[in-house]
Amino acid sequence: MDYRLAVIKGDGIGPDIVEEGLKVLEIISQKFGHTFTCKEVLAGGAAIDATGKSLPEETVEVCKASDSVILGAMGGPQWDNLANGDRPEKALLGLRAALGLFGNIRPAVLYPQLKDACPLKDRIIGEGGIDIVVVRELTGGIYFGERGEGVGELGAYKYDTLKYSEVEVERIARRAFEIAMKRGKKVTSVDKANVLDSSKLWRRVVEEVAREFPEVELNHLYVDNAAMQLVINPKQFDVIVTGNMFGDILSDEASMITGSIGMLPSASLGTGKLGMYEPIHGSAPDIAGQDKANPIATILSIAMMLRYSFDLENEAKAIEDAIEKVLEAGYRTGDIYSEGTTLVGTKEMGRLIRGQL
Ligand code: NAD
Ligand code: IPM
Ligand code: MN
Repeated sequence: MDYRLAVIKGDGIGPDIVEEGLKVLEIISQKFGHTFTCKEVLAGGAAIDATGKSLPEETVEVCKASDSVILGAMGGPQWDNLANGDRPEKALLGLRAALGLFGNIRPAVLYPQLKDACPLKDRIIGEGGIDIVVVRELTGGIYFGERGEGVGELGAYKYDTLKYSEVEVERIARRAFEIAMKRGKKVTSVDKANVLDSSKLWRRVVEEVAREFPEVELNHLYVDNAAMQLVINPKQFDVIVTGNMFGDILSDEASMITGSIGMLPSASLGTGKLGMYEPIHGSAPDIAGQDKANPIATILSIAMMLRYSFDLENEAKAIEDAIEKVLEAGYRTGDIYSEGTTLVGTKEMGRLIRGQL
């Protein structure tokens, strides 16, 4: 098969990790006889520098016309305070909205080989490791609510609003239950229904959707408790479904279960097959250009693309197995390094993974 991919390398470590991901994809194409035709487009800081806009129309058009999008990361201090109010992160939100990618799937899996990189104690990790999927609503909530400003009793203010409609909750809840059906058959919905009206609606709609999935066990947690439970008892979780901002925060927290944020991939999906695949981490300006970034989250995101958008399960599995073998052999980038393992850079990690393919 021939697949058309839009590739957005992005800023900071983005170009380096995407480069390693594309090289892995090249091996997959040779080994399994597929063609991936990649078209590179600009978004984020690189697009601001080249075109003056974080999300050029051409980028949106190319992404829409592609079978999937691979994205590195966007952002950096040099674009944080532009006079026109644009910033790289706006491109990311704009793309998610333009492509209708309401469902963000973020699997936090602790590879047994990385137990020493995980900050949790052995008795909390327990036998059989940890395997959680965070299903984050991605095109609604406070990220996309009305914003404004005014002057009140305490002076000038700015505000953001948090709104969820039944349709938005229903479709993300259904996605979470469908995923749970293929796994541990448990969904934990995370909200703040003890305070927020939008969370009360969230909880009610999730319960309505749950009735269509009688085999799946559903429980609810308030977000503050969920943050604590992820650290004290992560093994209770199978699928976590939550809103946009809670999901952003909890998935970074969950990433530490894997040992590092450099290990956590993601798929952003809508109703069709087109998805956007990116690591959950950012552009890591602190290590950009130093060959230190862990490319595994990006390479795993490409495996997710093969599985979710193209139904290429064997190809996805081949990548995941190759990564596991490299970890088994003791190779680590700095973020997952522990005593007794071998420290390697971004490029070498990519080369080792390709070597296992
Ligand atoms: P970050 O995820 O970029 O970095 C947080 C920490 O994790 C840093 O210490 C970094 O060095 C480390 N880290 C991240 N990815 C790593 C990897 N692959 N290997 C090793 N270490 C890694 O978060 P931040 O510092 O809060 O944000 C930096 C910039 O990235 C900001 O402009 C932010 O808005 C942007 N951002 C973009 C995305 C995205 O494009 N999807 C996601 C998050 C943050
Ligand atoms: C993520 C990032 C983005 C988000 C930012 C960069 C807009 O943190 O993908 O997790 O908050 O969604
Ligand atoms: Mn985030």
